[in-house]
Amino acid sequence: MPSYPLIRIVALVLGFAVFPMLAEEPNAVAIEAVRRLKGADLSANPALKRAVEKMVDGVRGQGVMVELIRDFDLKDRVPQLVDYLRKHPGDEAALDAVSYIGVTDASALKEELQAAGVAAELIRTVGRSGRTEWTPELVRLLSASDRTSAQREAAVAALLTSESGAEALLRLMGSNGLTGALADGAMQGLQAARWPKVREQVQKLGRSGTISRREAQLPKERVLQLEGDPGRGAAVFKRAASGCIACHQVGREGVEFGPNLGEIGGKLGKEALYDAIVDPSAGISFGYEAWLLTLRDGDEVLGLISSETDQEVAMKVPGGQVLRYRKTEIVKRDKQAQSIMPAGMQDSMSAQDFADLLTYLASLKPRRQ
Ligand code: HEC
Repeated sequence: MPSYPLIRIVALVLGFAVFPMLAEEPNAVAIEAVRRLKGADLSANPALKRAVEKMVDGVRGQGVMVELIRDFDLKDRVPQLVDYLRKHPGDEAALDAVSYIGVTDASALKEELQAAGVAAELIRTVGRSGRTEWTPELVRLLSASDRTSAQREAAVAALLTSESGAEALLRLMGSNGLTGALADGAMQGLQAARWPKVREQVQKLGRSGTISRREAQLPKERVLQLEGDPGRGAAVFKRAASGCIACHQVGREGVEFGPNLGEIGGKLGKEALYDAIVDPSAGISFGYEAWLLTLRDGDEVLGLISSETDQEVAMKVPGGQVLRYRKTEIVKRDKQAQSIMPAGMQDSMSAQDFADLLTYLASLKPRRQ
C-alpha cells in the first residue's frame, strides 16, 4: 500500500489529468490509475473519494465494479454487489463479491440464499469462498422441501468446504435429515474430509447409523450365496454412483489413485474382496497408507505419499492429482490408521449388484502367456 504523501500526489495528478476524462465511461487507463490506489483511505481524502465513487458508478454491473468496491472498502455499496451476484452468480468477480460481503455485511446475502429460486451457481460460489457466515442458510436450504436437486447438491458441496460446515452436515446426517443419493454424496464427501475430527465423527455415525444399517442388509453369507454375473458386475464397478472408478483403474479405465485392480482376482477371492470393500481399514494395502500433512499455514492435506526427496514430499490426493510440498512447509505428518478408501462404498448397491461386483473383481486374473 502506498504511503500517504504518495497517495496525495497521485490523487492530485489523477484529479487534474485523469478524472476529467471519466465523464461517462471510465477508460482502461483511468481504471488502471485508480486500481493503483487500492487500499487508500478515502475518508482522509474527500476529493479522491468522490472520484472513486464516480468511477464505480461508471462501471456499474461490471466485474471491475466488484474489484473497486472491495479495494476501496465501499461498505455502503454492498447492495450493488448482491445485485451483481443475481446476474453473474458464478464468475471470478462473483467470488470476490461473496468474500467481501462475508467480511463486511454477511446479512446482505442471507435473504438471497433463502430465496426459493437461488441460483445453484451462487451456492457454489459461496462454497468456493470457504466462508462460514452462511452455514445456517445452507442447512436450512437442505431441510426445505421445495428446493431442486441442483440447489441441494450445491449446498452439500458448499458445506463440505469448511470444518464448521462439514460438522453441520454431519448433524443433519445424524438426524436423518438427508436421504437417497444426496445422503450418499454427503457421506462420501465427509469421509474424505480433511479435518480429522470430522472423519472420526463420520466413523462413529457409520457404526451407529446409516452404514451399519446397510451392512446388516448386505451380510456376507447372503451376498456370497448369490450367483454373480461378471458382465453386470463390470457395469456396477463403472457406475458413477458406485464411486470405484474415481479411485481405481482396471486396465486403463478409471483414475489411478488406489491400487490398480486389473489383476485383483489373482490376489483376493470373493470373501476377501467383500471384506476389502465393506471394511477397507481392516487391511490396508502396503504403500497405500493414508498420511495427513499439516502445513505451516495451518492447512491439512490427506493423501498417499507417492514419492519423497530431501526437499520435497509428493502427495497423491483423491482424484489422482499429485501435489508437491517443500519439507520446510510441512510442520507435521501423521500416518492414519484408517484407509483413505471410505467404508460403506457398497451402500449404493443391492445385494445382487454387490454379488455381481465381487464376481467381476474375482474374475480379473493375471493373464498367463
Ligand atoms: C476415495 C478413493 C477410493 C474409492 C472411492 C474406492 N477405493 Fe478401493 N481403495 C482405495 C485405496 C487408497 C486402497 C488401498 C488402501 C486399502 O487397502 O485400504 C483401496 C483398496 C481397495 C481394494 C484392495 C486392493 C488390494 O490390493 O488389496 C479393493 C478390492 C478395492 N479398493 C475395491 C474398491 C471398489 C470395488 C470400490 C467401489 C465400490 C472402491 N474400491 C472405491 C481407494 C478407493
